[in-house]
Amino acid sequence: MAAISDLPSRVKIVEVGPRDGLQNEKTMVATATKVELINRLNNAGLSVIEATAFVSPKWVPQMADAPDVMAQITRKAGVTYPVLTPNLKGLEAAIASGATEVAVFGAASESFSQKNINCSIAESLDRFRPVTDAAREAGLAVRGYVSCVLGCPYEGEIAPAKVAEVSKALYDMGCYEISLGDTIGTGTPTKAQAMIDAVAKHVPVEKLAAHFHDTYGQALANLLAVLQMGVATIDSSVAGLGGCPYAKGASGNVATEDVVYMLNGLGIDTGIDLEKLAETGSWICDQIGRSSASKVNLAFAAKRSTAGE
Ligand code: HMG
Ligand code: MG
Repeated sequence: MAAISDLPSRVKIVEVGPRDGLQNEKTMVATATKVELINRLNNAGLSVIEATAFVSPKWVPQMADAPDVMAQITRKAGVTYPVLTPNLKGLEAAIASGATEVAVFGAASESFSQKNINCSIAESLDRFRPVTDAAREAGLAVRGYVSCVLGCPYEGEIAPAKVAEVSKALYDMGCYEISLGDTIGTGTPTKAQAMIDAVAKHVPVEKLAAHFHDTYGQALANLLAVLQMGVATIDSSVAGLGGCPYAKGASGNVATEDVVYMLNGLGIDTGIDLEKLAETGSWICDQIGRSSASKVNLAFAAKRSTAGE
């Protein structure tokens, strides 16, 4: 029997629901709901929870309450709450709010870079350098995102070499981890492996995170493919919430519940309580009036209703 080989023994999950999941909601989600979501995720055992984004409220109105969210969450020892900071203005506000980790976010596609952060890839890297320098001087860890690593909503195919180039630039400027975003979820396993192969020639594979959206239902398959190459950090969103304001039609990240279920089945440790996580997924869906995009969540709910709960 052929085995699924070379899997990591432990995977770090970066929960991006409160930021990536909610940023695209048209109706304003109350700050108290965002705060409770983060606190519930804490209680479910998540150790990295991307809390919010210090971006222009004109560009992403849903994240306008970033300082309030950071002020109101209950911070647990050993848990980090990274926030997005596209520029020095965002970094200053993040530091003032007590953030200990920030993320800069670039793209492997020129068009997406223009639509998302209003500048070219080269300009974005020039803008990120002072942000990473200042953050690191202030003692903050910096994560680097690359969007459109397996396709772009405006340009279509993206060359793995371009993904590698942008990833290397972010790593060289001091980002401790590079999160590779399949923003529109068009990737398939072979493509995902080719992309990781190209990037890993320049950035150690243990410094890479897979940030896969599930628009075409490929995210779990793609994750399994890259786990076998040594990737051991996965970004995911509770209940599969989300989408990108600058990638029309893109659905949310792969659901955290589905990832944890798969990892549990593979015998890979995450430290997450799946029952509590699924309850949190159901709760946030009720709060914002959405149905869950997590298959595991739906299966748990069906089981509960069959059991007459
Ligand atoms: P700009 O318009 O070129 O910036 O936007 P600007 O410097 O000319 O400033 C314009 C106005 O915004 C000014 O205000 C600034 O003060 C204000 P005004 O004088 O007009 O009143 N401003 C800010 N306000 C608060 N916080 C800030 C900030 N910066 C400027 N940090 C900018 C450039 C980068 C700011 C804008 O394009 C922006 O905020 N973009 C963010 C877009 C975004 O958040 N997208 C979603 C996240 S990325 C994503 O989801 C992908 C990812 O998940 C990975 C994947 O899936 O691929 C990470
Ligand atoms: Mg994303």
